[in-house]
Amino acid sequence: MTSPFRLDGKTVLISGAGGGIGQSLVNAFREAGASVIGADREAKLLEGLGLSSTVIFDQADPKAARAAIEAYLIDHGTPDAVVSNAGFTRAEHFGQVDDDVWASELAINLNGAYAMTDPIVAAMAQRGRGSLVFISSVNALAHFGNPAYSAAKAGLIAYAKAIAVERGGEGVRANVIAPGSVRTPAWDHRLAADPTLLDNVLPHYPLGRMVLPVEVANAAVFYCSDAASGITGTVLPVDAGLTAGNLRFVDEVLRGK
Ligand SMILES: NC(=O)c1ccc[n+]([C@@H]2O[C@H](COP(=O)([O-])OP(=O)(O)OC[C@H]3O[C@@H](n4cnc5c(N)ncnc54)[C@H](O)[C@@H]3O)[C@@H](O)[C@H]2O)c1
Repeated sequence: MTSPFRLDGKTVLISGAGGGIGQSLVNAFREAGASVIGADREAKLLEGLGLSSTVIFDQADPKAARAAIEAYLIDHGTPDAVVSNAGFTRAEHFGQVDDDVWASELAINLNGAYAMTDPIVAAMAQRGRGSLVFISSVNALAHFGNPAYSAAKAGLIAYAKAIAVERGGEGVRANVIAPGSVRTPAWDHRLAADPTLLDNVLPHYPLGRMVLPVEVANAAVFYCSDAASGITGTVLPVDAGLTAGNLRFVDEVLRGK
């Protein structure tokens, strides 16, 4: 009997496949039996990942993203699932945000994600089946810095719910994962520059650690599998407990640590 958690014979398109979480997504979906189409902004980011095919576009340019995906669909057909994972932020607080920064962080994280998934949603609806997962952030649920990025990531939740409601009747599911700080290779550089950084980060996390990229990837595999066939329009924090409450308040104010 085939496990409903397996994805044998399915195809999944993963954007930002060459990044820290992206590479874990590729591995997890391949291990679950899927063949993986990798999308990213440069072909060299996708080398050696065991992908069945690739799509290259700049997600900050919605017209380019839509055109690349439409061409891909004509040549290769509609994937069974999509993980919209590409994202970017640099502006950590309002002091670093202006009109241009706001527009650019909305462009890559929200407008580009819409432009690249919209043609696939339409094709999935026509076929009568499909699943999408959006990699958002805990920043969409409460403010932890990065104001423009956070607005974009909150927008992804609204977009996923719109797909869930308007396309559910055509068999399309859409869900959102909200990771907390993920221990990607990007953290290696930060920790090399400041080895004490974790002393400030970990007291916020009830599990006492950051989540691993594979923990985000496993949640995405679940959402795309038949094991989640009744689940749509939901948001799943994969955040080591960050959004469950305020551990520092409990520790510092109540426990007097
Ligand atoms: N790492 C974390 O702590 C964390 C926490 C919450 C959410 N996230 C989200 O998870 C996702 C993956 O993040 P990551 O940590 O792997 O980051 P990363 O920088 O390692 O990977 C991001 C990927 O997106 C691609 N990308 C960036 N700009 C692009 C553009 N304009 N066009 C096309 N592709 C582009 C990059 O090339 C890269 O492959 C992002 O959406 C991010 O916001 C990350």
